[in-house]
Amino acid sequence: MDRIRLGVIGVGSVVREIYQHLYFSSEYASLLSIEAVADPFEQGLHEFCDAHGIPRERRFTSYESMLERVDLDAVQVNTPDSLHEKPTIAALERGLDAMVPKPLADTIRGAHHMIEAMRASGRLIGVDFHKRDDPRIKECQARYGSGAYGEFQHAQWYMVDKLLVADPNHEPRFFASPDFAANNSPISFLTVHMADAFIRIVSLKPVKVRAHGWKQRLARLEPIASHGYDLCDTEIVFENGGVAHVVTGWHLPNTAHATTVQSSRMICTDGYIDLGLDMPGYREVIDDGIIERNPLFRNFEADGTVTGYGMSRPGRIYRKLLQHRNGTLPERERSELNDPLELGFWTTVVCEAAEQSLERSADTVNGVTHGVEVDVASLLEDRLGAEAGRYLG
Ligand SMILES: NC(=O)c1ccc[n+]([C@@H]2O[C@H](COP(=O)([O-])OP(=O)(O)OC[C@H]3O[C@@H](n4cnc5c(N)ncnc54)[C@H](O)[C@@H]3O)[C@@H](O)[C@H]2O)c1
Repeated sequence: MDRIRLGVIGVGSVVREIYQHLYFSSEYASLLSIEAVADPFEQGLHEFCDAHGIPRERRFTSYESMLERVDLDAVQVNTPDSLHEKPTIAALERGLDAMVPKPLADTIRGAHHMIEAMRASGRLIGVDFHKRDDPRIKECQARYGSGAYGEFQHAQWYMVDKLLVADPNHEPRFFASPDFAANNSPISFLTVHMADAFIRIVSLKPVKVRAHGWKQRLARLEPIASHGYDLCDTEIVFENGGVAHVVTGWHLPNTAHATTVQSSRMICTDGYIDLGLDMPGYREVIDDGIIERNPLFRNFEADGTVTGYGMSRPGRIYRKLLQHRNGTLPERERSELNDPLELGFWTTVVCEAAEQSLERSADTVNGVTHGVEVDVASLLEDRLGAEAGRYLG
């Protein structure tokens, strides 16, 4: 087999921003054949399918019908975070592999069920945490792992989007789902990226999590207000005693120099690291303002090819899924893909613990909630019972 017959489940903003380029214009496009698409939002479904020549009989408003009627090797589940679990498990149970954009799932139970279903099926789940393929993060991970900086003590990561991302009044709306910002917090949408990048660099498990959250700006939006958080600070204590703060939000003025303003500083026993993530070195000064272009993430080349880590991260996973289907994936790589760390299980744990920290708090004044401390082992035991031991051991 030289191509994966792929069924795409969900064609909203992540497909517009990233995957349409991966499927049709990247160097990985030749590994994929987009056989069918499912999305209950018919307008979005037909727009995507018309643009990319997917025939009428291969368009579905239910992924269950698509799985029943079309011969596939894999699915890509591009639904909102809380809807990754069911379609992924349905696909695995039919013997298909699955790819999901980050996160694996929005809950510890959901992530655990997906991992269990993957192991029972013998198939694979790939999770597209694209930051893991950013050359700056990869270099930092390799150098940290070699001991170049000693032991991590303290880290701050920022990732704050322009308001247009969360604003349901903005035209065109960023998310296909009108209530995305109310149902998904900066923690589930953004903390997940930075917590994951950080956990991959230091390869440590979180032990305690506490969050602070601000609901001040989105509540003032007009005519449609949003009741979600503007900004969240997630404090994570790791098993080595190190502390990381991940600060995320989506309420910066739309005049910000990048859609996502982001950076990190990590202080270690033998050095510190500054990752100027929103300064990729290509600045435009045009009528719209001063804009940082990030060709490391998406590089639109003159011949129409799209390269960058937004393509290479999922593309390289697809190459492994294809090898797995052909029986040529080396055992070491297969077992790495099965590892909870690789699947982003601990990232889901941090995010659910942060959401719990805010939810359990009674300390809210002037729209600011100071969360309670959440013990990670107790949270896992509460969510998974005796099966928590599989992750805590
Ligand atoms: N938007 C981004 O830039 C971005 C980047 C990285 C990861 N992600 C992740 O991608 C996922 C999707 O986010 P998004 O931004 O595209 O959201 P979105 O709301 O723009 O799109 C989600 C799409 O899924 C569809 N959908 C909902 N239920 C479905 C179902 N049962 N079957 C099939 N389709 C269904 C919706 O109709 C919508 O078209 C999320 O997990 C998100 O965290 C998004």
